[in-house]
Amino acid sequence: MEQVIKVNDLNVSFGRQQVITNLNLTLNRGDFLAILGHNGVGKTTFVRTLLKQLKPTSGEIMLAPDTKIGYVPQFRNIDIEYPLSIRDFIALSFTGFRLPFLSRREKQILNEVIELVDLTEIADRSMGKASGGEKQRAYLASALIKQPNLLILDESTASLDPDAKQELLAVVKRLNLQIN
Ligand SMILES: Nc1ncnc2c1ncn2[C@@H]1O[C@H](COP(=O)(O)OP(=O)(O)OP(=O)(O)O)[C@@H](O)[C@H]1O
Ligand SMILES: [Mg+2]
Repeated sequence: MEQVIKVNDLNVSFGRQQVITNLNLTLNRGDFLAILGHNGVGKTTFVRTLLKQLKPTSGEIMLAPDTKIGYVPQFRNIDIEYPLSIRDFIALSFTGFRLPFLSRREKQILNEVIELVDLTEIADRSMGKASGGEKQRAYLASALIKQPNLLILDESTASLDPDAKQELLAVVKRLNLQIN
């Protein structure tokens, strides 16, 4: 079984507040891991440490050398007047901030990703005016643009209704099967 993530005795603190204490875990290729816990228990902190946005107090996180991470952060906000369509919003992930001129290959990836999250029909609508669940799927699509093999979703079904939750999780499950 090929290891993708190996966490050894990880400790993370903010000043005197120790948030993660001696965490050990191994994740293999194809695994599907859900981290559950109360608000403030340290779930996002773990993710941010994994992404190297935070430095452990001690211990380490090792990632397989070919790991390409796609990340959907917990808090995002898009103004209702946001000028781009869903498609253009997702396309921004090719460059980070400005609207790219897409190669034929990139256009193909863009269309595939949009199809994968079931946004094809409404891809030309305004991102700012999309519903919560549609936006969540657009964020997921953004994270998929770079074709990651490790996908991290932080509270990505928060605020979704039960049907939308099921749908999003079904998409993620399908992706897990496709990536691996
Ligand atoms: N940048 C920071 N500076 C100081 N303290 C922080 C920082 N980020 C998080 N914390 C603290 O670390 C603890 C864990 O926060 P974290 O965001 O990891 O929780 P969480 O499990 O993701 O919670 P939620 O379910 O609400 O998203 C909290 O007590 C929080 O106040
Ligand atoms: Mg969190």
